[in-house]
Amino acid sequence: MSASARLFAEIAQTVAGGETSYARLRAGNPLVIDRAAGARIVDADGRSYIDYCGGYGVNLFGHAPAFVLDAIGRTIGELGLHVAFPHRLYGVVGERLAAMVPGVEQVRFANSGTEATQAAVRLVRANTGRDLIIKFEGHYHGWADHLCTGWGPDSASRPARPDSPGVPDAAMASVWVVPWNDEVALREAVADAGDRLAGVICEVVPGSGGLVEPAPGYLDTLCDVVRAAGGLVIFDEVMTGLRLGVGGASARYGVTPDVTTLGKVLGGGTALAAFGGSAEVMRLEAENRVVHGGTYTGSPITLAAAAAVLGRLAEQTSLYDDLESASAALASGLESAFAAAGEPAHVRRVGSMLQPFFSARPVEEPRDVASVSALQDTVRYRAFCDALEANGVYSHRYPLGRWFVSAAHGEAEIAETVTAACNALAQMPEPDHESAGLRVTA
Ligand SMILES: Cc1ncc(COP(=O)(O)O)c(C=O)c1O
Repeated sequence: MSASARLFAEIAQTVAGGETSYARLRAGNPLVIDRAAGARIVDADGRSYIDYCGGYGVNLFGHAPAFVLDAIGRTIGELGLHVAFPHRLYGVVGERLAAMVPGVEQVRFANSGTEATQAAVRLVRANTGRDLIIKFEGHYHGWADHLCTGWGPDSASRPARPDSPGVPDAAMASVWVVPWNDEVALREAVADAGDRLAGVICEVVPGSGGLVEPAPGYLDTLCDVVRAAGGLVIFDEVMTGLRLGVGGASARYGVTPDVTTLGKVLGGGTALAAFGGSAEVMRLEAENRVVHGGTYTGSPITLAAAAAVLGRLAEQTSLYDDLESASAALASGLESAFAAAGEPAHVRRVGSMLQPFFSARPVEEPRDVASVSALQDTVRYRAFCDALEANGVYSHRYPLGRWFVSAAHGEAEIAETVTAACNALAQMPEPDHESAGLRVTA
């Protein structure tokens, strides 16, 4: 038995399932990790892997970036671990976000993306005095009750259907799930919602839904239709914010929402998220007329890390170009490996997020999450991830669990990954074309 497997079994005696996340538990084959630096993680058996999980997309600069660790060290020397008062880093991070993120004049801090989206939805409901939120099939906004819905394909529903036991129907009564990129369905839902519509939340690029980009013009239409009906638009940029550029997906697609949520990259590996919008939209927070809080919100550790990350991003001149080139090289290297192995597989990519698809049909065309996810041969994809892991490359095994490329993934790591992919493909069992099926989200 490997040391990882032994340790995992020990952990599972006292930590339910051996994990603290449903998503990681579902990903299967858990490794117990000993060390992490740059593009690599090392497991309890001393095996090193090039990591494309990247702390779920947190580590834009790779694992344990020295400039973030230094900033945290300096800050806790001055402010301690937690003060529960405003401190100077509030202003530093607030100012930088206001300068970088389209439509954001003011922010609030939270401890996770789930909290940030929950706060954003409450803010939108409070601003409009209405209750109904529309979200999209295959879009993930965390696991809070009212957004624990619509993760899978074919999940469009009015009212929404819960994705977990324990979520009361009452939480679903004020949420509708509509198909992504379907203008007609959106217009109909908004019209039917009438003066119940508080707002719409979307991911812009569903990172756990096959990276299905918005169709040309769709985001503009979405904003127009929702605002004309008196609602507000939330872009959930927990995954895409600061990853697709300093202005995130909204800058990339040139559309500005009313409220933006951020997380992952922002905290540089610490538990930080944020939500923000115009001073007008945030007025209810400023005047303390809507509830948002938390013991740890705005802790020195998290804001020191964020200030360091945002400072580095403000100075960078080529980081996103470099990420783009590394990610493009990885995607084309993988596609060449698939072609050489005669494996009908493709890569879909948006910036430094990419998703291999084991599918005979190209995945460029479908714009809805259900069609895209149906293309993934989930059994074959898992077999690929298993074989990759044996060859020193790690990615989570969700069929739509995109890979994250970081600044620490240089030419050497990309070349090593492509070689590992060639070896993995040669070692994989013969395809079982009967396999198809469902994905899970992350
Ligand atoms: C788009 C999006 N929103 C919200 C969340 C939830 O964030 P967290 O896991 O920090 O609660 C995630 C997490 O993956 C996400 O990708």
